[in-house]
Amino acid sequence: MALRTVPGTTDRRIDALLTLLADNAMIVISGAKIAREIGVTRSTVWRWIEKLRSLGVKVKGHPRAGYQIERVPDVLAPNMLRRSLRDTAFSRRIHHFFKIDSTNNVALRLGHEGEPHGAVFIAEEQTAGRGRAGRTWHSEKSSGIYLTVLLRPPISPVHAPLITLLAGLAARDAVAEQTGLQPDLRWPNDLLLRGKKCCGILTEMHAEPDHVNFVIVGIGINVNHTRLPEELAPIATSLRLETGKTHSRLELLAKLLRSLDRYSNQFLAEGAGPILKRFDEVSSYARGKRVRISTATETYVGTTAGLEPSGLLRVECEDGRTQVVISGDVSEAP
Ligand code: BTN
Repeated sequence: MALRTVPGTTDRRIDALLTLLADNAMIVISGAKIAREIGVTRSTVWRWIEKLRSLGVKVKGHPRAGYQIERVPDVLAPNMLRRSLRDTAFSRRIHHFFKIDSTNNVALRLGHEGEPHGAVFIAEEQTAGRGRAGRTWHSEKSSGIYLTVLLRPPISPVHAPLITLLAGLAARDAVAEQTGLQPDLRWPNDLLLRGKKCCGILTEMHAEPDHVNFVIVGIGINVNHTRLPEELAPIATSLRLETGKTHSRLELLAKLLRSLDRYSNQFLAEGAGPILKRFDEVSSYARGKRVRISTATETYVGTTAGLEPSGLLRVECEDGRTQVVISGDVSEAP
């Protein structure tokens, strides 16, 4: 299969420029040297430096004096990310976009065109980020992580909900490691800090009755947002708002992908058991929580009673029936 460049992907030479500057942080490098090393003109170097500055990368200097980066930049550039992902499934195909409608959209399209297992799609900004149930995902420039991974697991579609669960566990571990906080997991995979959502996951699948062709897992994390739109503020938060500190998105993203790699390998090797057990340990929603379930067709209240072996949520309703939630919004009931 021919692997081609995806339209809109960040020019590899901008990636090379960033790596060059980051590897020589605190050293002044002349515009001419940069131009020679990455194979573009000096005026292109200048234009790209301006672009990096607009993304918040602190580059001192100008074409005559040379350029110097003040600290390792927090751009999710493939070269720098790849260094932390050796020996994972995610180091080979990393697609980076400064701006795109939705990383899930491009991953879906490429999934149909044969993009391999482990492909990663990252954006600094999304103009039409998609959430669950047709909602939008607020995707402010350079503040959050907007990531989609494409997986081709050798499983049947009935086991796909477990991929949704393991993605939530992976995101939870990464956020916990980064911040020292212990996020709650609301079934199937919302991360909550003090009851407010800081991470959402949209899993989409293309499958035949007996096997999965591919699954795409889209993960959005609110990282360095200092404020959220008025309508989201009561229900959403960011890591910055919760910890009072700015976090390196690059480090968090590497932790997230490493954690996703570990959980998916464990799932393929050992099956659902460890995933279900871990979810039970870290989610206050797994059992004994009074919840309201809203699906496209009905709303009901009940108490959670653990997960089915397939990862679906059991809810004991007030009339004594046990419902198995396949999809829908789960919220804490008063
Ligand atoms: C949710 O509603 O909780 C799911 C939100 C998923 C957002 C992420 S951001 C990266 C990826 N691209 C999208 O358009 N959506 C997902």
